[in-house]
Amino acid sequence: MADAKTPQRRVILGTGGTIAGRASRAGDNVGYVAGQVSAQDLMAAVPPRAGLALDVEQVAQIDSKDMGFAVWQRLADRVAHHLGREDVAGVVITHGTDTLEETAFFLQAVLQPTKPVVLTCAMRPATALVPDGPQNLLDAVMVAGDAHAAGVLAVCAGSSHAAEHVAKVHTYQVDAFDSGDAGPVGCVEEGQVHWFVAPPIPSQVAALDAGRLATVLEARALPRVAWITSHADADGSQVRALLAYGAAHAEAMPQGLVVAGTGNGTLHQALEAALLEAQALGVQVRRSTRCARGRVVPGAEGALADTHGLAPAKARIALARELMGL
Ligand code: SIN
Repeated sequence: MADAKTPQRRVILGTGGTIAGRASRAGDNVGYVAGQVSAQDLMAAVPPRAGLALDVEQVAQIDSKDMGFAVWQRLADRVAHHLGREDVAGVVITHGTDTLEETAFFLQAVLQPTKPVVLTCAMRPATALVPDGPQNLLDAVMVAGDAHAAGVLAVCAGSSHAAEHVAKVHTYQVDAFDSGDAGPVGCVEEGQVHWFVAPPIPSQVAALDAGRLATVLEARALPRVAWITSHADADGSQVRALLAYGAAHAEAMPQGLVVAGTGNGTLHQALEAALLEAQALGVQVRRSTRCARGRVVPGAEGALADTHGLAPAKARIALARELMGL
């Protein structure tokens, strides 16, 4: 039995995704429905779990393209609850691949956990000829029990990634995640967890801030932050349409705008003019890049702030958090 000094239990929280997907034909890796198989049944399909102390809880059962603040609130609440247990070493979250990096970033921002919270996933449904979910799940369980693991991580195809850097980079292949220039923080081989960086993981690890969590759990919605992209022929119509719609429907008024610029965060002049208008009206605007690699390198200071290296999906969450005063 685990004693309080050496927590051993791991908690698996299910949220759906392809890892829990079912297709009517075993060879069908795209025509399936995500979020069908329970987390309990997913764990049962991982035979080497024998001897591990595991608790399993279903938090949601969705395709992660439909992820939203309500599920994030539930997840943050349940993760915080389980991490607070003395007998729990870490938490694993089964999740769809499509918004996994957003959930990971959100949980890191809100919880900044000292214990590991490991998101895992699959690119093939549970009914596939060769599903990748069971191995990913087992690897994630091993990372969640590793003495050096901390903070929110993603484990997929044998690699461990920090929440701050991980991104889905492939639509189909099983090795679909990448951490860009930062690289993965570790790997799992035959159940052995290895780290490429000295622990703790370089995402900032801090004790749970109960006040920050309470603010998130009590919020009715995340502050609205829209994400738009600059491109050839871009103009200001999307920005102006968002503001006009917000003027007619107060709850839809964006408090923030993240723009994925070209190259080093440059913007089509017509779009930039509209963003400056929005900023003058009090909307917070942040400039990221649509490039898959690299950050917006600060140079001659423009009138629109950059995202300090965050890709648009994460910059949107960071700005929402800032707007909540967290
Ligand atoms: C999802 O994100 O829920 C569906 C796609 C996937 O998990 O690969």
